[in-house]
Amino acid sequence: MDSIKVFSPGSVTNLSCGYDILGFCLDKVGDTITVTKTSEKGIKISSIDKYNLPTNINQNVAGIAAQAMIKDIKLDYGFDIKIKKGIKPGSGIGSSAASSAGVVFAINKLIDYPFSDLELIRFAMEGEKFVSGSYHADNVSPILLGGFTLVRSVKDLDIIKLPNPKGLIATIIRPEIEIKTSDSRKVVKSKVTIDKMVQQSANLAAFISSLYTEDYDLMSNSIVDEIIEPDRAILIPEFYNIKDISIKSGAIACGISGSGPAIFALSKNNKIANDILNKMSSHFNSVNISYNGFVSIINSEGVKVID
Ligand code: HSE
Repeated sequence: MDSIKVFSPGSVTNLSCGYDILGFCLDKVGDTITVTKTSEKGIKISSIDKYNLPTNINQNVAGIAAQAMIKDIKLDYGFDIKIKKGIKPGSGIGSSAASSAGVVFAINKLIDYPFSDLELIRFAMEGEKFVSGSYHADNVSPILLGGFTLVRSVKDLDIIKLPNPKGLIATIIRPEIEIKTSDSRKVVKSKVTIDKMVQQSANLAAFISSLYTEDYDLMSNSIVDEIIEPDRAILIPEFYNIKDISIKSGAIACGISGSGPAIFALSKNNKIANDILNKMSSHFNSVNISYNGFVSIINSEGVKVID
């Protein structure tokens, strides 16, 4: 095989109670990446269709992840990368992760799978470090493993795949502003009180339990964030109104997706998820804020080969 085309989806992370450790994979919205073997060694990014992203491999997450991957293996060929961006950078649904995870997944197939999923997560995380300033695998893990994932440790690379309850649907809405992950991380306070730590641990544990038992009341009570959300909400126009609308319209929960500005809501079925999208959209229309919204299943498969 000399060339491969993959679809690398977006992802929603943190889920309010799991900053930097929880995430799930979206469906349909994502990057389409073509990687072709070249006689010239090394990595080249020959095209990125939009958003003025750098094609210099040392300044692009995909180039950085790909270089981390091939640096210790002997190959007598190289790779050309073409990326069609389906996710706007700075949107909160894992734009950089989709590119870095998609590229390492594609190269691994072209070189006959020498690397495990966990090793791919480690390489993709190099791209995340480059854009955000810190190692976090909460976006790249659900893209590479599918469904919901929990990152117990990035140092030991201990990633746990969680159950994906049937029927659970996400609504995503993103006001048309860009928030850089690095900026959004700067507003998060570095200290937390012991009572908040205890509550957040309890919420996280309860959320994990709710995925196993499909107990949506417990899920609703546990997708709560008293630590990060108050700091970041000020960056996102209408956040609390949108959250209020979602909950009143029957969402199980609603919160900031990743580092924002996207907002996610989880619902028990497609009808509620679409109703929430309509109501969120009406609200943004009424206050003259441009937005982009969609409804998505939780994608169990993750990144996949399309050609
Ligand atoms: N967990 C990360 C954050 C996701 O919230 O900053 C953004 O990539």
